[in-house]
Amino acid sequence: MKNAELNQRRLAATPRGIGVMCGFYAERAENATLWDVEGNEVIDFASGIAVLNTGHRHPKVIAAIEKQLQAFTHTAYQIVPYESYISLAERINQRAPIEGDCKTAFFTTGAEAVENAVKIARAYTGRPGLITFGGGFHGRTYMTMALTGKVAPYKLGFGPFPGSVYHGQYPNALYGVSTEDAMNSLERIFKADIDPKQVAAIVLEPVQGEGGFNVAPAEFMQALRSLCDQHGILLIADEVQTGFARTGKLFAMDHYTVKPDLITMAKSLAGGMPLSAVAGRAEVMDAPAPGGLGGTYAGNPLAVAAALAVLDVIEEEQLCQRSQRLGQHLVEVLQQARSHCPAIVDIRALGSMVAVEFNDPATGKPSSEFTRQVQQKAQEEGLLLLSCGVNGNVIRFLYPLTIPDAQFNQALAILSRALAQ
Ligand SMILES: Cc1ncc(COP(=O)(O)O)c(C=O)c1O
Repeated sequence: MKNAELNQRRLAATPRGIGVMCGFYAERAENATLWDVEGNEVIDFASGIAVLNTGHRHPKVIAAIEKQLQAFTHTAYQIVPYESYISLAERINQRAPIEGDCKTAFFTTGAEAVENAVKIARAYTGRPGLITFGGGFHGRTYMTMALTGKVAPYKLGFGPFPGSVYHGQYPNALYGVSTEDAMNSLERIFKADIDPKQVAAIVLEPVQGEGGFNVAPAEFMQALRSLCDQHGILLIADEVQTGFARTGKLFAMDHYTVKPDLITMAKSLAGGMPLSAVAGRAEVMDAPAPGGLGGTYAGNPLAVAAALAVLDVIEEEQLCQRSQRLGQHLVEVLQQARSHCPAIVDIRALGSMVAVEFNDPATGKPSSEFTRQVQQKAQEEGLLLLSCGVNGNVIRFLYPLTIPDAQFNQALAILSRALAQ
């Protein structure tokens, strides 16, 4: 079976709304390497969109899934519960940056975790309002589309969206938005749109993912926490993309002195199995009545087994430290590239959540064109890169943190050549 033939079948059999980036089809994968159906090899710096911090098919994760496969694959936790769900909740409760007692509930997708965080926040506060940020991405379901701060392609043609959602400005030094500007934008919302006493939660990504790997400044997070405390608003950190050692700590919120009330997580939590979670202050998590939370597949036993193994691997292989080290190395390489790549306008990083942003040197305007060229050139040499950013002019790096050093260096050499075009 060849890529071209599969492409034809795909176009005939599946809707164009499911946009597909690569023209080749996966056959197998191991750690940071992916092989397509024609036997071509690529270094995977996409990790299935930030899912594979522990790499493709980590032996410990595979062994845990296989063991669970021999026991049972599904009972529906709400019907017949199992110990592994509780163990995973206990481990997350110990590690999540939440003040006081913590509880965790499991779901299946990132969007579902965010939906449930909203349900929990509304049940606890008895308030409707939600504040999120321009450039934020929270998912493709109706509430999470409403929360998402980017219209094309995520919201195009899909309205109307659930109400009581307001977008503030996310700080962005490159575009001249300071923490003060961002906080002023919230004050404007409180004047023009909604009484703060009617706001249930402020939802933000500590590092915006799809929005361009923008890191929330420490003073912004502190100011948000104070604002929330002043008005009885909950602070929800959406860590779906930032979690599980990607930023050099288990959670991005571990980089801040203030703590959120709820945290959503998914993606790298279960090393490729569909699993998401909401962790939060026990009192808040207990607001919904029994039966109010859950889902048929929520906390699937195979995915839970994988997640327990992922947490072991992160500890045993010291992936937080490795994330810091690899991220630093990549930033150095990007900084060196800057001298011969005038299109680079910014390099941002928190651990291994690294991004490089491009403008057209002639116009000074964001260049999605140059970004695509870098992506294409790298792909021709066997390196898979993802873009992001509101203007599509950012390359984000999401390699497995388990990538061997030699392969990482090989990828950085390809990247340097792609930038030197
Ligand atoms: C920060 C954030 N929240 C939520 C989501 C939605 O997750 P999912 O695609 O698993 O529904 C994503 C996905 O990219 C994300 O990056």
